[in-house]
Amino acid sequence: MQRSIFKILIIPIEPMELAITLDSTSGEPLQRQLYSELRRGIITGRLARGLRLPPTRELAGNLGISRTTVTLVYESLVSEGYLEGRTGAGTYVASCLPDELLEPTIELPTAAASASAEAAPPSTLSSFGRYLASTELLGPRKDPEFQFAFGRPDGEHFPMGQWLRLLNKHGKSAELSYLELPKRSQGHPLYLGRSRGVNVQPEQIIIVNGSQQAADLVTRLFVEQGEYVGMEDPCWVGAKTIFESQGARLWPVPVDEEGIRVSELCRPETPSMKLLYVTPSHQFPTGAVLSLSRRFELLAWAKRANTYIVEDDYDSEFRYSGRPVPALAGLDTSQRVLYIGTFSKVLFVSLRLGYLVVPPNLVHAFAHGKWLTDRHSPILEQLVLADFINEGHLERHIRRMRKIYEERREALIQSLDANFGNRVRIVGQNAGIHVLVEFATNLSTDEVMEQAYAAGVGLLPAMHLQQLKVGFGRKAVSFIMCYGALTPEQIAEGVRRLARAIKQ
Ligand SMILES: Cc1ncc(COP(=O)(O)O)c(C=O)c1O
Repeated sequence: MQRSIFKILIIPIEPMELAITLDSTSGEPLQRQLYSELRRGIITGRLARGLRLPPTRELAGNLGISRTTVTLVYESLVSEGYLEGRTGAGTYVASCLPDELLEPTIELPTAAASASAEAAPPSTLSSFGRYLASTELLGPRKDPEFQFAFGRPDGEHFPMGQWLRLLNKHGKSAELSYLELPKRSQGHPLYLGRSRGVNVQPEQIIIVNGSQQAADLVTRLFVEQGEYVGMEDPCWVGAKTIFESQGARLWPVPVDEEGIRVSELCRPETPSMKLLYVTPSHQFPTGAVLSLSRRFELLAWAKRANTYIVEDDYDSEFRYSGRPVPALAGLDTSQRVLYIGTFSKVLFVSLRLGYLVVPPNLVHAFAHGKWLTDRHSPILEQLVLADFINEGHLERHIRRMRKIYEERREALIQSLDANFGNRVRIVGQNAGIHVLVEFATNLSTDEVMEQAYAAGVGLLPAMHLQQLKVGFGRKAVSFIMCYGALTPEQIAEGVRRLARAIKQ
């Protein structure tokens, strides 16, 4: 019989004491609660590695629960590698935890470390190799508790059951043809959202490993060292890094609330550009939507200037107000647009599936490029994704997530207003899963990031190619705050901590 209603018990486990909270009114089985408490104790280090746990009878007696419950919990933790049972000698916290086994043990060398004589890369590296060796890789730092930094979608509401059912179906399929090299490198011609108005033949679609690979292929096919690539300013650091790593020179083009300022492209000093990279549905990071009139102006300019436009249609699915504007690729009549889409935000980032749509006269070159790079993207995931789309799960998921993200966006805006008042300016609230936030402060961007990080909050600075011109007319720093993977409660707490961290 369960005697306790709500218990916080201090269990002496030499050489320390462990507080275990069990609540028999919560509806959660006691076995599950005890499992979580012990696992948390192990992961947080309160139960040190190698520590001997009390015998099952003793712990059960102290907690007033059955011995079988404790035994079952110990057994599960042993089978998962958190505990070790030593025959006749009791149960101990494992000396190496399973979570560590999953993490790489090698630390990636930093660019700074490779400047030292022994770690220096050979001088025979290509200019691409030298660029990679001398610049830092993004994101090796451990995630803080409230991570606003990266464009992560929510994972909790992803319909994993449907996904696994389809994975299982294709995994069991008698044909198993996906285990062989496919006949085409472009992958399965799938999905081009009806709402995007892009009218293409299936062979024009090349399935890639996310926008990152699409941008990489486009650069390699078009840009020679020293040639210009135009970019919106501010911009997506991922594309900027790809262009720079391949020796392109960047030409910043300012944006305003209608998106990229096309008139700036028509100035006499604008150099001839190989590519112009734009994010018209939801300018990254300001969130501006490129107006229809500017879309037509931009296409006319590309034709006159003999330039290709790279349209990154990232985030077009999450729009909270206003009607969707057709993609540039859908308006283009001169075959000047290379269109990029991704499933990273609508599904999940590690899926690494996106698509590139190219004009018919470039299909062969791009398909060949994809083949040389990595043959093709994983087929099994593409088959699952095709069914997931055809059975309507993708649309349903997007509709559901739009509501959830809208709530989270509201929570972020309200928390920022409440905690920062007139010290904050929020831009780009109408779409996507992030906003651009400017804080009036005397601190530098790095100082804000450091102080926020110390308070458990992760932020990503906005990438400006030129000096920040917009803002308060006084000192300000700007960050991208992504709310996709945080609940409204986490958002409120994260912003409270941020406000305490950047008082000046
Ligand atoms: C503008 C932009 N495009 C695309 C992506 C997604 O890239 P990928 O498809 O490689 O995951 C991001 C991610 O943050 C982004 O900011």
